[in-house]
Amino acid sequence: MYFGVDYYPEHWPRDEWEAQADLMKEGNFNIVRMGEFAWKIFEKQEGKFDFSLLDDAIEILAKRGIKTILGTPTAAPPKWLNDNYDILQRDKYGRKKEWGSRRECCANSTDYIEKSRIIVDEMAKHYKDNSNVVAWQIDNEFGCHGSTRCYCEQCRREFASWLKEKYGTIENLNAKWGSVFWSLDYDSFDEVILPAYNACEGTFGDLWSHNPGLDLEYHRFSSDSWVKYQKMQIDIIKKYTDAPVTHNLMGHFSDIDYYDLSKDLDFVSWDNYPDNQWGGSDYEYVSMAHEIMRGVKDKNFVVMEEQSGPAGWDVLGRTPKPGQLRLWTYQSIAHGAEGMVYFRFRTALFGMEQYWYGVLDHDGVPRRRFYELQQTGKELQALEQYIVGAKNNYDALLVKSYDNTWGHDIKRHNHKYNYEGHLYSYYKANRRHNVGMAVSRGDYEKYKAVYMPAYNIVEDDEIAKLEKYVENGGVLVLTFRSGTRDTFNRVRSLAVPGVFAKLAGIEVEEFDSLRDTEVAVTGSFEGKARLWCDIINPVTAKTICTYDSEYYKGKAAVTVNSYGKGKVFYVGCDLDDAAMEKFVELVSKEAGIEIINAPTGVEVIKRGDCTILLNHNAEAVDVKGLAEGKALIGGSDFTGKLEAFGVEFVAK
Ligand code: GLA
Ligand code: ZN
Repeated sequence: MYFGVDYYPEHWPRDEWEAQADLMKEGNFNIVRMGEFAWKIFEKQEGKFDFSLLDDAIEILAKRGIKTILGTPTAAPPKWLNDNYDILQRDKYGRKKEWGSRRECCANSTDYIEKSRIIVDEMAKHYKDNSNVVAWQIDNEFGCHGSTRCYCEQCRREFASWLKEKYGTIENLNAKWGSVFWSLDYDSFDEVILPAYNACEGTFGDLWSHNPGLDLEYHRFSSDSWVKYQKMQIDIIKKYTDAPVTHNLMGHFSDIDYYDLSKDLDFVSWDNYPDNQWGGSDYEYVSMAHEIMRGVKDKNFVVMEEQSGPAGWDVLGRTPKPGQLRLWTYQSIAHGAEGMVYFRFRTALFGMEQYWYGVLDHDGVPRRRFYELQQTGKELQALEQYIVGAKNNYDALLVKSYDNTWGHDIKRHNHKYNYEGHLYSYYKANRRHNVGMAVSRGDYEKYKAVYMPAYNIVEDDEIAKLEKYVENGGVLVLTFRSGTRDTFNRVRSLAVPGVFAKLAGIEVEEFDSLRDTEVAVTGSFEGKARLWCDIINPVTAKTICTYDSEYYKGKAAVTVNSYGKGKVFYVGCDLDDAAMEKFVELVSKEAGIEIINAPTGVEVIKRGDCTILLNHNAEAVDVKGLAEGKALIGGSDFTGKLEAFGVEFVAK
């Protein structure tokens, strides 16, 4: 398996490379990723190519058994490209994103596309027969620094033809979007605007200000633009070599539809920073990010950048404690990683990221973090058969939909509402119970339970698939703000929950978008709603919980409906963490899913007949009874004890 580092030979004097490579070998690293920001080195002047720096670095590393993943350098355009061509994005206020950092290029700039095509072609041609180059990474983190949506003239023109292709006639577009509202009808596709700054924006401190149909389509178009730009590069590389191609994605990031983006990749990779300048993530949130990355292709992935030190751009997050880098590595692996690359080998002396620490500090001296990873790399060699190609036992599915992320962002329902936070609350409760939960879409039949929170924009063909799944015995969970919109982001002329009313066996009579009120929920479990209450009339469903205050005291809040051989739960309100865990117990029982209660902060993951245990606590814990058998890392029978930040693979 890949166990390596992100490496920037261009940041270090040539006479230090050999010693650095020796140290990598000593650290048990067998792969590096290089090149992804070095356009100016490869093409110092337009049309003059020179890959000698990279050739040398690849060679020096290869002599020590270290292979290379090559990044195409298109995230960082050289100055000549900026000065002589029209490549820069415009933000929604019409401001140019000036050159001087990275990711400032527009995916629809014909100049940027053309110059990207040329550098990628030169690179692929140059390295096609180099057996030390074992994989390719396209560009770097599409969409990062808020770069997914651009508002330039080239984007406007491309959007017009994208819409023409999709809608056929402008009359059709007007009808689907309801352009008649506020006199927004268009006479031609060329008239269609981009959802840039307008008179409504900011009126109440909010950002939405456009026709919801236009807004949603612009999210889709912008996502498609990057998918297309990526495909252009992939096609070039594939002309020359069979080496697998990836891109480094960003976990929870949702501006680009990752199902679409990963379709053209041989494997997904992603960048994982659990604690940095912008905060520390709960372990459940990190686990979910890994599961999203596994779920987009339903396939194991590589972590292309794994945190390896304290991290920040101007201020710093916490320093990973002894044992944490190892634990985070095993957490990645437990949720589907089968390759680990750490960002970065040695901390940069200059540039934006002087404080984004790597495996080595500025002085290049190996210390605690180096030795911890060295040990981890050694351990992993012995575990390979439980990692590469291995798959967890998944009982439940959490459906993530990019259309719905965008739809809910465009109309947020409530100031405190956030679709991704809502999804996370369901993931977290399942993780706390150690339910094997995939985060993906489709293929409902593979799971005992399907959680589909706030699935509001529903394609017509999805409804029949879900009905069939439940008819055949599946357990489905639906929540408030579901089933009421079509693919054009229009509200359907149906009672809430719209297309799901029959499945859920209810009608929502009224709702209450809460402000500073807490509404108690009581029944099969107790809880509190803080942002939304659907006041439910059960039609064929049974009530599980009712509200205990407000004018709707006694009305149904949570219901369950028998449908064919299956069951549909409907949760009409948000719930606090404790109530959510109770709810997940109910669903799991109904679906025949085993829940595993472990000490707080301990994750249990089932993989075939192997149990993976992760202790996220800074103290040792007793986990007797959770797994019995041979401790594959410890080497003897499992003692039932995990050290602080300890991990174990226990096989029967
Ligand atoms: C991202 C990028 C890297 C680097 C790190 C740290 O993940 O891909 O190039 O910038 O963040 O900031
Ligand atoms: Zn643009």
